[in-house]
Amino acid sequence: MNEYTRPKKAASLLERAGEIYDYIPAVRTVDRRAPASENLPPETPVRQVTPVKRRPAEPYDGPRVIVDRDKLQEAGFIVPDGPVTGISEEFRIIKRQLLLAAKGSQKAARVPHGERILICSAHPNEGKTFCALNLALSIAAEKDNEVLLVDADFAKPSILSSLGLEGSKGLMDALADPQLPVEDCIIHTDIPGLAILPAGDQTNADTEYLASARTEQVLNLLTENNPQRIVIFDSPPALSASPASVLATHVGQVLMVVKADETTETALRDALSLMGGCEHIQLLLNGTKFSPTGRRFGSYYGYGE
Ligand SMILES: Nc1ncnc2c1ncn2[C@@H]1O[C@H](COP(=O)(O)OP(=O)(O)O)[C@@H](O)[C@H]1O
Ligand SMILES: [Mg+2]
Repeated sequence: MNEYTRPKKAASLLERAGEIYDYIPAVRTVDRRAPASENLPPETPVRQVTPVKRRPAEPYDGPRVIVDRDKLQEAGFIVPDGPVTGISEEFRIIKRQLLLAAKGSQKAARVPHGERILICSAHPNEGKTFCALNLALSIAAEKDNEVLLVDADFAKPSILSSLGLEGSKGLMDALADPQLPVEDCIIHTDIPGLAILPAGDQTNADTEYLASARTEQVLNLLTENNPQRIVIFDSPPALSASPASVLATHVGQVLMVVKADETTETALRDALSLMGGCEHIQLLLNGTKFSPTGRRFGSYYGYGE
């Protein structure tokens, strides 16, 4: 086979998204050096808060909740120890790039706070939760990594219901109550390496809590005794909720989900311009399950058609 007849190696969904959308200019228009509070609308008050409550570091050996594997499978999620599927292969590629940035390599230094990854998109229903949970399941399957999946869509939390788990205290409660240690809100699951931090009770000041100095302290607590931990945030949609842009200031990497054939370029550019607090942004092209053509996530590789 010569140069001209050899089929081109299929690009990953990350690469394809980058080729389709020339998004870098949109990101460059934002001043990334501005602190979190300066990325807020001018009228947003920023609270001063008391320091967080800490717990002494101890390895967790408490109870673990059981995740319903059938429910995972029904909803199309990666099933731990399940068969290799198009989705699981896709997330294997995606996680490699994210982990490389989080941990660094001989060729590139680690991205500051690259272990905090925000999964965002412009609008609801573009696959943020789907991608966040699948990415978490994929990383949890790595022997030397732990994942904390944070439900940060405070208005429409859906991680617990996706896993068939009961509601409980979460991030917003720990931010609002300095006496509540954030570790006490974490749900440890029977999936090795996977823990969940629920959203907690929504307040009418979520954005201000997130912009407060305490948020950074709370987030530091999540990893300071656990350097293996990768923290994945399931974000609210960037264009319908202000917390997304503030969350971007706390993370080292943003994965912007673009729904194939649906997310418009204008919406994507607007969403990216709100992510200016983070320097490392990648796009992820998500297919649609119920497309009349039958095309879906991963089918670009020839899977699942
Ligand atoms: N690639 C995909 N394959 C199958 N189902 C998907 C895919 N992406 C999203 N979905 C489904 O579409 C619906 C909306 O996705 P979701 O992740 O909840 O969106 P968001 O969190 O952005 O609001 C969910 O039922 C989800 O399971
Ligand atoms: Mg969601």
